[in-house]
Amino acid sequence: MPTSTDARPVLDEAPTTESFRTAVLTGLQKTQKRIPSKFLYDERGSELFDRICELDEYYPTRTEMGIMRRNIDAMAETIGPRTRLVEYGSGSSLKTRILLDHLEDLASYVPVDISKDHLAAAADALAEDYPAIPVQPVCADYTTSFELPDPPLPAACTVAYYPGSTIGNFRRDDARAFLERVARTVGEDGGLLIGVDLKKDVDVLKAAYDDSEGVTAAFTKNLLRRMNRELDATFDLEAFEHQVVWNADRGCIESHLRSTTAQTVSVAGETVEFEEGETIHTEDSHKYTLDGFAALANKAGFEVSRVWTDDRSYFSVQYCTVGA
Ligand code: AVI
Repeated sequence: MPTSTDARPVLDEAPTTESFRTAVLTGLQKTQKRIPSKFLYDERGSELFDRICELDEYYPTRTEMGIMRRNIDAMAETIGPRTRLVEYGSGSSLKTRILLDHLEDLASYVPVDISKDHLAAAADALAEDYPAIPVQPVCADYTTSFELPDPPLPAACTVAYYPGSTIGNFRRDDARAFLERVARTVGEDGGLLIGVDLKKDVDVLKAAYDDSEGVTAAFTKNLLRRMNRELDATFDLEAFEHQVVWNADRGCIESHLRSTTAQTVSVAGETVEFEEGETIHTEDSHKYTLDGFAALANKAGFEVSRVWTDDRSYFSVQYCTVGA
């Protein structure tokens, strides 16, 4: 429901503390402990992620921005006028500005994000800078179904924007299920502009997810802080370290929190045991080949109609239409 205290109404369908508690307690009982990566993004997590995007080692953001800047005219032409643009996981909406600067006569811009304060601040800033574009923020977990606000004037079509290779954070089956939902949301006339990170040298990948300044380590460890704060957990942040592993079989970088010692932690009143070296798996970042992504998109009901990449073929931005 819209919250009335914000300057700009935010359609609020954010997950509750209860869903965090349930996900954590369920995940910490598994043989390989795991917590869904969406819970990395509380306010501090979102801020740390913004810092990650500026790191030298974290090539995806810069590379994707470069691809957007170089090809924005072709992208705007492909998308067409009077679109309702729905951005999944909008964060600070930085890349979006390139689109908002070039898309013709947008019907509305709907940023959807799980982090409410971050979303509200970003939406306010965009609304101020783009007074002619109706900005309609929705605070929601976009991996579940949520309600889309109608634009003030009818749109020619709905186009989903999913930058940053966040699709890589889904396991392949979940990525397919998510893309199927997006295809249903945008409908037959709609499209999807998506950033997809590509397979490359493993050392480049590992450096991107374990940077020398330790920002990514702080981002991952913030999950322990969040559990301490929101679930009365007793994690000692010094007793865990950030660990990244390239899983060649699954084609993804795995991020983990590794317990440096045998220890017992209390979480929401439950006792959780860790052996020395045992990990909590916090995130997958899948990397695709162009063919691999096209096959996934097809299974979900999309056709890849345009692909833009950089000189090194590190990253791709792809436009997908809903197959007939
Ligand atoms: C949001 N997502 C695409 C990032 C990624 O590259 O998987 C999250 C991230 N985690 C650590 N660094 C960046």
